Amino acid sequence: MSSEPTSLAKALASFDVLWSPRIVTRVNDYDVRIAKVKGEHIWHVHESTDEFFLVLDGELHIGLRDGDGERAVTLPAGSAFTVPRGTEHKPYSADGASIMLFEPTGTLTVGDRHEDVPDHVDATTGHSLEG
Ligand code: NI
Repeated sequence: MSSEPTSLAKALASFDVLWSPRIVTRVNDYDVRIAKVKGEHIWHVHESTDEFFLVLDGELHIGLRDGDGERAVTLPAGSAFTVPRGTEHKPYSADGASIMLFEPTGTLTVGDRHEDVPDHVDATTGHSLEG
């Protein structure tokens, strides 16, 4: 991790790949990740961790399947939301968004259970910003 401040604008400008988070920094055992997204991710579950979303730019929707059935939340830029552990979720954005994620280091983007992973979704624990 860098000992210098990180410009999120520069960090976001340094990559174009969609649904492929970059690790900005670490906080104790957690990654702060940023990602560019457009179109649909996949339904997946993180069995043992919550997942925090902050929308930096654009608008993100997150489909949720919980005890109440299926619903979706809408996050305009500046909105934050935490998906509780064990909740099936599917992020999507018709027009594209830039997002920040906060989750334990090693958390897979596609969770512990998921649908088939299409080519446009990167199944990763996050990439370094430099690489
Ligand atoms: Ni997730």
